[in-house]
Amino acid sequence: MRVVVIGTGYVGLTTATVLAYIGNSVTCLDTNAEKINRLKQGILPIHEPHLDEVFDQVRHKMCFTTDYAQADIPNTEVIIIAVGTPSLPDGDADLTYLTQAAESLAQNLGEAFTLIVNKSTVPIGTGKWLEDRIHDFTDALDDRPGKRDFNVISSPEFLSQGSALRDSFYPNRIIIGTQHAPSIERFSKLFEPIHKQNFVSPKCLPRPEDLQEVPIFVCDVISAETIKYAANAFLATKISFINEMGYLAQKVGADVDALAKGMGLDPRIGSRFLNAGIGWGGSCFGKDTAALVATARKNGLEMRIVQAARDVNYSLRQWIVNALQEKIGDLNGRRVTLLGFSFKPNTDDLRDAPSIDISKELVKRGAIVTAHDPVALKNARLYYPDLGVVYEDDLSKALENPEAVLLLTEWQDYLHIDWQNVPQCVIIDGRNHLDHARLRDLGFETVRFGSKQS
Ligand code: UGA
Repeated sequence: MRVVVIGTGYVGLTTATVLAYIGNSVTCLDTNAEKINRLKQGILPIHEPHLDEVFDQVRHKMCFTTDYAQADIPNTEVIIIAVGTPSLPDGDADLTYLTQAAESLAQNLGEAFTLIVNKSTVPIGTGKWLEDRIHDFTDALDDRPGKRDFNVISSPEFLSQGSALRDSFYPNRIIIGTQHAPSIERFSKLFEPIHKQNFVSPKCLPRPEDLQEVPIFVCDVISAETIKYAANAFLATKISFINEMGYLAQKVGADVDALAKGMGLDPRIGSRFLNAGIGWGGSCFGKDTAALVATARKNGLEMRIVQAARDVNYSLRQWIVNALQEKIGDLNGRRVTLLGFSFKPNTDDLRDAPSIDISKELVKRGAIVTAHDPVALKNARLYYPDLGVVYEDDLSKALENPEAVLLLTEWQDYLHIDWQNVPQCVIIDGRNHLDHARLRDLGFETVRFGSKQS
């Protein structure tokens, strides 16, 4: 099929690559000319495991453009919208990019039926709003012959950064938000290889052995949009729940990792998303929980659980700084090394990363902060040049002479640090990632979240 993907962020680029891989002719459209130029040269704007390998394999089958006219919209069967919807100060989503896409699409739609799939996370009700906007814009262009035949559906995306490609090839469900039969049929046809799992897996990402078919769930557009928020809010709440238990564990002398294990063995609870520590960040959980609270408020409802999950989450960024101060006293002039800067491992994304707030607080208290990350320091230098933090790419240099080390992101690399060559210091493990028994044997003073032991 001919597909146009609007937006080349994590969702857009990954989806485009997967759709090209399973045999479609895909055009990536983005208003950012620099990104498009780089993509044309085969340079990816994001760090995602294996994306470069698969992208290299299929990019000759893809087109990249900033120009809607060049994207040949009239001859396109499916348009996927994956533009950014960042948070406004009141928690609402900013729909500027979506509005731009609606206007440009309206100007370029042909007469044949076009399926428009929204994958951007948008406020509940935006599917209908988008359809109305495109109609408004097309009506305004009434000098064009023929009527425009299109339908907007919602198909929320559930991929996680750091495993975006894997999640797109092998998702755990495909949601189709529409009751329009021709749209369901066309969308199902496009995603049939993913649904049936009958494509040849990329070498770098073999199919999980137990995966036979990916379930498709069809529902109305508003429910599809709400499922996305509900899923993210639930996962965020699950993490905040274990973190609140961690606060209690610290008081009563329990161990939060033991709690997570004991709880997670119950299949009704499940062990995933019970990793305690300094909590969630990233472009999704913070933004989506804020949007959910704002939407509910507009409808006269307080989302008390989701709000509490947010409160617990953001308190953890203070917890780690306070824990450090408790251990080493006044932070003024003290040398602190941060291990990990991205919001989670295997990504270079710094949006709402705990490291940013934690750095600000440490600098405010006078600490001399050095930060290491295997991939995110390029973005740190670009987006946070004035944080007052020294960005150090060389891990051994970052660990040359710290008084304290704070682990903020659980990169695998940090499991292989040769601690024997690191001077004695306090280690605060914000992700309960390190081997504390060994560290203590080596003479380090350590703190884990959610445990009295230190
Ligand atoms: C999340 C969802 O998991 C995806 O399903 C969804 O598609 C995506 O948001 C989105 O809306 O686009 P993502 O934010 O990329 O994905 O990453 P997660 O793996 O969910 O991690 C989010 C944050 O939670 C990270 O900061 C991570 O460190 C933290 N986390 C995760 C924990 O603190 N504990 C855990 O047990 C799991």
